[in-house]
Amino acid sequence: MARVKDLLKDKIPRELLELVPTSFDIIGSRQGAVAIVEIPDELEGYKYEIAKAIMKINKHVRAVLRRVGPRRGTFRLYEYEILIPGPTEVIHKEAGYLIKLDPTKVYFSPRDQSDRLDIAEQVRDGETILYLFAGVAPYAIAICKRRNVHVIHCVEINPIAVRYMIENVRINKLKGKIVPIEGDVDKVAPEFYYKSDRVLMTLPLGACEYVHHGILCIRREGGILHFYHVGKEPDIFAEAERLVYETARKLGRDVTIINRRVVRDYAPRMYKIRLDVYVR
Ligand SMILES: C[S@@+](CC[C@H](N)C(=O)[O-])C[C@H]1O[C@@H](n2cnc3c(N)ncnc32)[C@H](O)[C@@H]1O
Repeated sequence: MARVKDLLKDKIPRELLELVPTSFDIIGSRQGAVAIVEIPDELEGYKYEIAKAIMKINKHVRAVLRRVGPRRGTFRLYEYEILIPGPTEVIHKEAGYLIKLDPTKVYFSPRDQSDRLDIAEQVRDGETILYLFAGVAPYAIAICKRRNVHVIHCVEINPIAVRYMIENVRINKLKGKIVPIEGDVDKVAPEFYYKSDRVLMTLPLGACEYVHHGILCIRREGGILHFYHVGKEPDIFAEAERLVYETARKLGRDVTIINRRVVRDYAPRMYKIRLDVYVR
């Protein structure tokens, strides 16, 4: 990525050059991609030069977007400033599977790839899985491409994400294995109480309000809950653990935290974290 800076050496004053972003997200494939970049205010006057440099180095990029502020709203979307206009619907290639999406309309992060693969590795053949807050269903696709599950029900409230989910099931040839459900987790989850071997709750800022659903959806014989949260220093897992233990105690279910994982940085001194919880 240092090459973006190299291209801008003669265009941006030396004192500002060190603020040029060294990394950015590229979502898509050789057939077409979108670059998403954060540019500090000090470089406002050079934003188009930066976008052009990104495009010059990444020939398959057709649009460059600047991220403005944090993710917002129920659908967890960024606001973008368009620096170089172009198509934003892309097919992202990950570890042997395809994810069709438009990042301006649905949640997706290429940075979660290793977390997806880590979850997929844990799944056993034949499992019945409930995937809450599923977006365009990237975790379900990663799992089904590696394991022969019984079924994964995917619940998502954003109708555009559900449309892409259906399309992703089709292009990855996973019909019957992944079942898209459009709806609010709060209303849909009770239909799945005591039915799942594994539940994913991939909404770091908000899953805490629904943790009782996640726990109750695990089979009486036992199963695994993957609970995501935003953890704050100094003890980044403490709040999530307390929440899980207290909720389980109220529900009369027994829980053991079997794994704690930092998925990635979230904000200064804050991290997207995951707890893997055995529920019985
Ligand atoms: C952080 S995103 C994760 C999406 C997907 N799992 C992924 O990793 O790409 C959370 C998703 O939950 C959805 N969502 C938020 N509140 C919801 C609710 N009450 N019921 C169903 N889905 C919800 C949002 O629209 C968003 O797509």
